[in-house]
Amino acid sequence: MQRPNAARMYDYFLGGTQNFPADRVAAQRQLGLLPATRVGVRENRAFLRRVVRHCIGRGIRQFLDLGSGIPTAGNVHEVALRDAPDSVIAYVDHEPVAVAHGLRLLHDEPNVTVTQADLAEPRDVLSAAGVRGLLDFDRPIAVLALSVLHFVPDESDPAGILATYRRSCAPGSVLAISHASGAGLTTTQVTEGLRIYDETPTPLTLRPADRVDELLAGWSVVSPGVVPVVDWRPEHQVDPDVREAVGNGWAAVAVATEA
Ligand SMILES: C[S@@+](CC[C@H](N)C(=O)[O-])C[C@H]1O[C@@H](n2cnc3c(N)ncnc32)[C@H](O)[C@@H]1O
Repeated sequence: MQRPNAARMYDYFLGGTQNFPADRVAAQRQLGLLPATRVGVRENRAFLRRVVRHCIGRGIRQFLDLGSGIPTAGNVHEVALRDAPDSVIAYVDHEPVAVAHGLRLLHDEPNVTVTQADLAEPRDVLSAAGVRGLLDFDRPIAVLALSVLHFVPDESDPAGILATYRRSCAPGSVLAISHASGAGLTTTQVTEGLRIYDETPTPLTLRPADRVDELLAGWSVVSPGVVPVVDWRPEHQVDPDVREAVGNGWAAVAVATEA
């Protein structure tokens, strides 16, 4: 049987159709272990929408979405183009199904490109035609790395990777991240959950808030700092049940103040 894959499992959690039996089996195991996973991914998407609008409010019209996933309703280009039709969006993912689906869906969108690349190789990403040809690096860019850095192991130096993106972007550029931590979960939920992702090509590295903060070295984190995803500038009061269910993911937005 084919190996499960994080992009397609995420698509399944969101109710999408771009997934295979192995993805559904792994995703069902994860849901059995942690039923709140579905609420968690929806809250992550709600954070994505808040972040895109925040960036547009800052005057940013360029988005580099790293680990963009399989495009589903409410993706970055939908939110950005609705609020600011002059926005441009470069999607980057290393997963072939995500990229193929993105290309099929978005081929007639002039403001959007889809690139297959590994975000851990910033020079490859930044020199790719879909990125370099679309984005103007002399003007601020929103670099989005939502629910993806936990797939980058410590030995790949995620802080160094993010610093390379920062140095390539104009001052005033923004980095937004969300990150799984395992906080509030039982030992079984953590160990079994890690085991599920060990079967995919991208094992998980859970990081507590202070380790997430370290990833942002050199960036200026904006208020309210590194907080649970639901607490990053919420637009309405968060149901206590939802907070308890998804308390294990961190979110942060930071600004590049120097080149
Ligand atoms: C959980 S999904 C998140 C999708 C989207 N960013 C969101 O928050 O809705 C993670 C995505 O990151 C992609 N990914 C994981 N590691 C990556 C890497 N090193 N380079 C590029 N994409 C990666 C996966 O293929 C998957 O599509």
